[in-house]
Amino acid sequence: MNKTINNIKLVKNETKYWESIRKLKNNPLVKKNSISQEYITKEQQKKYMKQNNDIFHICLLNDEFVGYIRILNDDIGLIVEPNKQRLGIGEFMVKEILKQNKNIIAKIKINNINSIKLFEKCGFKKKYYIYEPK
Ligand SMILES: CC(C)(COP(=O)(O)OP(=O)(O)OC[C@H]1O[C@@H](n2cnc3c(N)ncnc32)[C@H](O)[C@@H]1OP(=O)(O)O)[C@@H](O)C(=O)NCCC(=O)NCCS
Repeated sequence: MNKTINNIKLVKNETKYWESIRKLKNNPLVKKNSISQEYITKEQQKKYMKQNNDIFHICLLNDEFVGYIRILNDDIGLIVEPNKQRLGIGEFMVKEILKQNKNIIAKIKINNINSIKLFEKCGFKKKYYIYEPK
């Protein structure tokens, strides 16, 4: 880590973080980079989280929720709170997950330059293109 972020950790997901995850996913500033564009309601989130709680890891900076990383079928997805970006939090989360699991990939939207740079900085190499019908 090249920045001065102290007291940062990844913790297990718990019910108390479900609403912070939902708000972050719905935040228009991050949504443009997400593959899924649907608005998530509280009810949808509860239902989804009951089945998928454990694929999420929560990042706390000074004990405050600042983002999450999740692994779904070996695919990494992560979001950092917009006002906490560029501090090295994304890099911290990806590197922590890599310590536990090296068989992971990241599917990234072609125009998500920040994410491409992040993964390349963490040692990932571009290997596939995914084509969809128009
Ligand atoms: C992509 C994202 C997770 C990066 O998180 P972050 O905590 O800001 O990233 P870091 O501070 O750890 O940055 C690591 C590297 O990524 C690149 N990077 C990240 N944000 C960048 C930006 N806004 N502009 C240029 N480069 C950027 C840089 O190479 C950076 O290293 P540097 O600061 O030494 O130049 C964050 O921008 C985000 O949540 N975006 C919205 C959701 C998203 O796109 N998720 C990824 C889907 S796979």
